[in-house]
Amino acid sequence: MPRGKVDIVMTKARDLGFTPSDKTWANLGQGSPLTSEVEGDSVRITKVELQPNSYNYTPIGGTNELRTRIAEFYNQIHRPNLESKYDQNNVSVTPGGRMALSRIMATLGNINIGYLNPDYSTYSEIMITFAPTCTLIPINLSDTFGINLDIIESKITEFNLGAILLSSPCNPTGSTLNDQELERLVNFCKSNNCLLIIDEFYSKFIYTKTGSILSSSKYILDVEKDGVIIIDGLSKGYRYPGFRLAWIVAPKEIIDKINCAGSFLDGGCSHPIQQFALEMIKPDTAHSEAKAISDQFILKRDYLIKELTTLGFGIPNKVDGAFYLWCNLDNLKPELRDGINFSHIALQNKLISIPGEYFDINPDSRRASTKFKNFVRFSYGPSMEVMERGIGILKSIVAIG
Ligand SMILES: Cc1ncc(COP(=O)(O)O)c(C=O)c1O
Repeated sequence: MPRGKVDIVMTKARDLGFTPSDKTWANLGQGSPLTSEVEGDSVRITKVELQPNSYNYTPIGGTNELRTRIAEFYNQIHRPNLESKYDQNNVSVTPGGRMALSRIMATLGNINIGYLNPDYSTYSEIMITFAPTCTLIPINLSDTFGINLDIIESKITEFNLGAILLSSPCNPTGSTLNDQELERLVNFCKSNNCLLIIDEFYSKFIYTKTGSILSSSKYILDVEKDGVIIIDGLSKGYRYPGFRLAWIVAPKEIIDKINCAGSFLDGGCSHPIQQFALEMIKPDTAHSEAKAISDQFILKRDYLIKELTTLGFGIPNKVDGAFYLWCNLDNLKPELRDGINFSHIALQNKLISIPGEYFDINPDSRRASTKFKNFVRFSYGPSMEVMERGIGILKSIVAIG
């Protein structure tokens, strides 16, 4: 079994003495958002009080209350004027985002599935493990790393794709489909019978208009007939990665199959965490929370872009969402131009970053050559203090000589 890419780096960091509380390290690697209070955000959960029924199994797809709450969230935030509405049977709650993806992949059968490159590193392992009968079709983005719909549409047609998987906002680039593009993609997939599997884990980290939440659900006319599967969860937008709760929103027929997969893969999400999620997923406060988060994160994005470009890193794409910077190393000194070397040297200096080639989605290493060797990903999930420490370390590494 291949080890998860971010896990490889984090294991090396721990071997070298990294702990999250060690103030001499800067973790700009792992994709974890700041988990402490953010001004304007709702109060962080600090207590876990179990109820008598917390000990019991829940339905595989989640408790009725939570599924209803999630369905209402999408209806109220994204579809208030649309007739077709989601209900609890359009929702499946899962133990974290990776399990949401695994459940979905396990239901796909024998189709051509397209995926973008680069994208979230774990897609590779999840596709080969859970969708072994699918033909995997890479869709390489251009050198500017935007999510280019012309390229995507031509691949859907050329390979008669039965499904396409992508993250928007994208991990690792931060490229983000805007409203018009989401509408175009939903409509194109619908008219070409291509299931759209869209990973919206970073939908609250939007910097074009802070406080906005971008979701393809706004452009789905009929929630049962339009083949769109949406994934989101508590790990990023609610800043509770340790709670391990995510959800899938899709037509009922698809949710039914996804729950069948959940019944043998994972058995459902932790019951107490589902009870707490009810306190967090609140349609009426969603925009103010999104604003609190994005107001805070845009400062960190701007700081990091400014400092990194001054140091010679190239940032090829527009960073409208998520909390990552996808950095080209070509203008650094020769020993730092390879992402693996870069990351290794950075680790020796107590800075964690992720080599770009780890986001080269190359299932089973079927392609011999590796892409994105001259890239590295930095996360601006952590606090400004960690960011500044990281930049201090980078300055000493990058200095010529
Ligand atoms: C795009 C994307 N989707 C899903 C996930 C998975 O989240 P989880 O930690 O809940 O499994 C991540 C985590 O980094 C991600 O970046």
